Amino acid sequence: MQAQLEAIISETESAAPGIQTRPEFDAFKAKISGPNGSLTQVMKSIGKLPKEEKPAAGKLINAAKQRIDAALAATLARIEENELAAKLGDPIDASLSSPDDFAGMAHPLSQVREEICRVFHRLGFTIAEGPELESEWFCFDALNTPESHPARDMQDTLFLPAGTLSKDAPKKGNEAYVMRSHTSSVQIRTMLARKPPIRIIAPGRCFRRDTVDATHSANFHQIEGLWVDKNVTLKDLKSVLDSFVREIFGTSVETRLRPSFFPFTEPSFEMDIKSPNLGRLSDRWLEIMGCGLVDPKVFENVGIDANEWSGLAFGVGLERIAMLVHGIDDIRHFYANDLRFLRQFA
Ligand code: DAH
Repeated sequence: MQAQLEAIISETESAAPGIQTRPEFDAFKAKISGPNGSLTQVMKSIGKLPKEEKPAAGKLINAAKQRIDAALAATLARIEENELAAKLGDPIDASLSSPDDFAGMAHPLSQVREEICRVFHRLGFTIAEGPELESEWFCFDALNTPESHPARDMQDTLFLPAGTLSKDAPKKGNEAYVMRSHTSSVQIRTMLARKPPIRIIAPGRCFRRDTVDATHSANFHQIEGLWVDKNVTLKDLKSVLDSFVREIFGTSVETRLRPSFFPFTEPSFEMDIKSPNLGRLSDRWLEIMGCGLVDPKVFENVGIDANEWSGLAFGVGLERIAMLVHGIDDIRHFYANDLRFLRQFA
């Protein structure tokens, strides 16, 4: 009997791994433990044994049955697993990213702003901020901009109706509030809050009463720069700005300072660049920012001694730089929230 049982066990264990489908399994199981199965036959044969041999035979059969059942159970489990997998198709991995794996990105203007801030950070500048809603004194008077200046005209700047703000909103005197038309107001706020030496850049949003077209937006961004120290000269202005444009446009860029006028700098300049990397704009000088040495009148307005301190200042349009860097021909793309445009900068 033992030899018979061993044969059934080894037959079961060697055939089981090859069984793939449920009908195959059912047929195989019937061959062993069905009414006429080989194991069933052996079990039946116990009845014919002499009484004293029955207990030992029962033990043998039980042990064999356990091994055979285990092999059958494992086979069935494997078949069920395969059946489930076939039903589900490809295995599902919930941790995989979705078919559209676009994870989001910084807006191209934010990217360029960050890049410009990084460049100035390496040159020793820190970031300063000021409010977008300013009073006329910070936006104009303190910056030596007279009442008659065109920027102070209702046609150019967004004034707020009297009484819009609480009486406690910070301002200098009884002047009106405006949406800041440039970030130069942060120069004033910084110089009132801190003592020189000062080296800051102030990125931020500006507002003008502009008709929107391919190069104008009523809402745009500037980065203001201010460096106040002993003996700051035009050489410093040129070297700071040259370093900046080289980092942004590459070392083959040419620069020039063209005399200009701003009420808060003396002398004042427009900085032009020419670069072979700018596609169809490569052959011409392009104006990219205003700059100059801080006018002593501005120092006087914020209580800094102009005999002891000197300074340089500049203001650059963020959209202008981003458009040149990326070859964008219409400023309105930045604000349209069209993903076909934005994803190009991912
Ligand atoms: N605030 C000027 C503008 O909006 C730009 C500017 C020019 C800023 C000269 C400066 C500067 O700091 O020195 O057009």
